[in-house]
Amino acid sequence: MEGLGITVTEHLLIHQKESPAATGQFTRLLSELIFSAKIIAREVKKAGLVDILGLTGDINVQGEQVRKLDEFSNRVLIYRMQRSGVLCAMASEENADVIEVPDDMPRGNYILIFDPLDGSSNIDVNVNIGTIFSIYRVVGERPYVTMEEFLRKGSEQVAAGYFLYGPSTMLVYTTGKGVHGFTLDPTVGEFLLSHPDIRIPEQGRIYSVNESNTNYWDGRTKKVVDYFKSTENARRKPYTARYIGALVADFHRNLLDGGIFMYPADNKDPAKPSGKLRLLCEAAPLAFVAEQAGGAATDGRERILDIRAAHLHQRTPLFIGSRRDVETATAIMKGDV
Ligand code: AHG
Ligand code: MN
Ligand code: MN
Repeated sequence: MEGLGITVTEHLLIHQKESPAATGQFTRLLSELIFSAKIIAREVKKAGLVDILGLTGDINVQGEQVRKLDEFSNRVLIYRMQRSGVLCAMASEENADVIEVPDDMPRGNYILIFDPLDGSSNIDVNVNIGTIFSIYRVVGERPYVTMEEFLRKGSEQVAAGYFLYGPSTMLVYTTGKGVHGFTLDPTVGEFLLSHPDIRIPEQGRIYSVNESNTNYWDGRTKKVVDYFKSTENARRKPYTARYIGALVADFHRNLLDGGIFMYPADNKDPAKPSGKLRLLCEAAPLAFVAEQAGGAATDGRERILDIRAAHLHQRTPLFIGSRRDVETATAIMKGDV
């Protein structure tokens, strides 16, 4: 019937034959992710009313203060995904080590890596936050998962995407056959197809970067940001700056409107010479989405999806968004221009 909208399950069934990744197991995996996101979205919506704001007092493996909603989201995802019956193990930004699926629970052939809550600094001030997920198929036959199963190239992902908790709650994901966006209809509790086949504009007019780090950047990084700030080049209209402070929200805006998000390496913190963002749970999943939408993602030198992680919480510089903008930034970073 017209006007009832297309659910995620229906969309997967329609596209199942096109995407080898979209097996029944994958449909189940995504359904459990969606259930987790609905629980998180419920807490986000009432964050101002219940004791879910603020800090837990803990420091996570990233050396960051853990906020209650970080911890809640992480707990929900681990609890639900362990019972999905389709994972053999998972890794979270919030957990130092891999999380195995216990023996007494049904296991499957997929591996999940996730950032349970991205943009945590926005939680207490009611600004967009999100959940980022990355899915690989396990390659080994071993009964237990080794760390090697997680230290993959992003190009090996079978699916990736994010939930965005904002004025509306959205799911955007790819299984390697384009990028599709769904918006949660809270009256029926279903994500309905709202942005079929998202394509990112070839070139944008927005650049997103935290310029308070300028004094910690090298010369080429400063040259990149100056390029997007300058107006000499008649070929293009001047860019405008937008920075939400949540990667998933800055990325999503650029995905729809065009533009580039940058988190370059800086020498601000000797512990983080490659910048703040994590390869496996932030850069690689969003790079998969960006490329599937016709965009690009590099670390300033090479394609994010070609980088093989050396350890679980490896950080990487990130230049991601409209293809022309990322190519320009990367050429400057490599000294080609
Ligand atoms: P997380 O909340 O998962 O730690 O991620 C926060 C990240 C990313 O979402 C955002 O783009 C970046 O931190 C902002 O960092 P700065 O505050 O240093 O700009
Ligand atoms: Mn994050
Ligand atoms: Mn996070």
